[in-house]
Amino acid sequence: MRFAVKERTESRHIGFGKVILFGEHFVVYGAEAIVAGIVEYTSCALELQRGRPGLRVVDERPAVRGYIPAKAAEQRRAHQLVLSHLHIDTSTDGLRVHLAGPLVPSSGIGASASDVVSLARALSEMYALHLNNEEVNNAAFVGEGGYHGTPSGVDNTAATYGGLISYRRSGGKSIFSRLALNNTLYLVVCSTGITASTIEVVKDVKRRKAADPAWFNALLERYNACVTAAREAMMRGDLQQVGKLMNENHTLCQQLTVSCAELDTIVDYCREKGALGAKMSGTGRGGLVVALAADEAQRDRIADDLAKNCPATKYVWKYSVLPMGSKL
Ligand code: MEV
Repeated sequence: MRFAVKERTESRHIGFGKVILFGEHFVVYGAEAIVAGIVEYTSCALELQRGRPGLRVVDERPAVRGYIPAKAAEQRRAHQLVLSHLHIDTSTDGLRVHLAGPLVPSSGIGASASDVVSLARALSEMYALHLNNEEVNNAAFVGEGGYHGTPSGVDNTAATYGGLISYRRSGGKSIFSRLALNNTLYLVVCSTGITASTIEVVKDVKRRKAADPAWFNALLERYNACVTAAREAMMRGDLQQVGKLMNENHTLCQQLTVSCAELDTIVDYCREKGALGAKMSGTGRGGLVVALAADEAQRDRIADDLAKNCPATKYVWKYSVLPMGSKL
């Protein structure tokens, strides 16, 4: 083996969860996305298993029902891709990979990205690779290929850096910057409990785009106007306008066919209860809704109401994105 290897990791290695506020799917085709890293994370600890080749994953993440078995094959592929990218050979001495942390894996929350980011960081300690954030992000991007097929890179970037990020992929490169807010964003994030396969949904959008490029380009043009206006509204603290643009982004997702009845029900419910805006977030066809509230009290009221009275809702989280900011 090329590296001095430890018996086990000692530090805590994490990858953040994320919520896409603008741009799922469009970001795959080079459009700007706005994504918020959330405080919950996945952690990864490693133990060397001498004479036992391969990886054994002990997955103790508090996932929504069915998520871990549904993603097991994709996870195996993703972990192998990270290992090969980092030139780590487990054909003689294998690894026990222990995943844990408070992030509840569910479709849309960036669980796969937080998994591969935390793994890359843990491998860096284990094999003395001294990876910086950019190298961790690159390894995680390769790993996301196992989960996503053709990832845009938005999820692994949010999982590596956290914070509020404007992200775009152009000419094979990730271009991103941290957005400095004037106000706190109070978010309700709500899961349908339905696990969707990002690889399949992204593939289906690609197929539809190829079949009708004019239809796709018209949606993309409307989306580009929407996200530009959203970033400007966020920067000047006009949350009413951000909410309206989230609604517009949801309509575009519906037209792209990536929403579903359960997501639409939850989105409508959040708006009826006074949210400034609500949309699906992430892969879609299941997964998450994100709603923007005017303040903390309204966020808590909407979240509690959803949990009690909206049967399409399986899990609800209350998040805040704080007005700190600096360049990445
Ligand atoms: C998944 O969280 C976001 C998608 O846009 C895929 C990607 O960006 O790689 C659907």
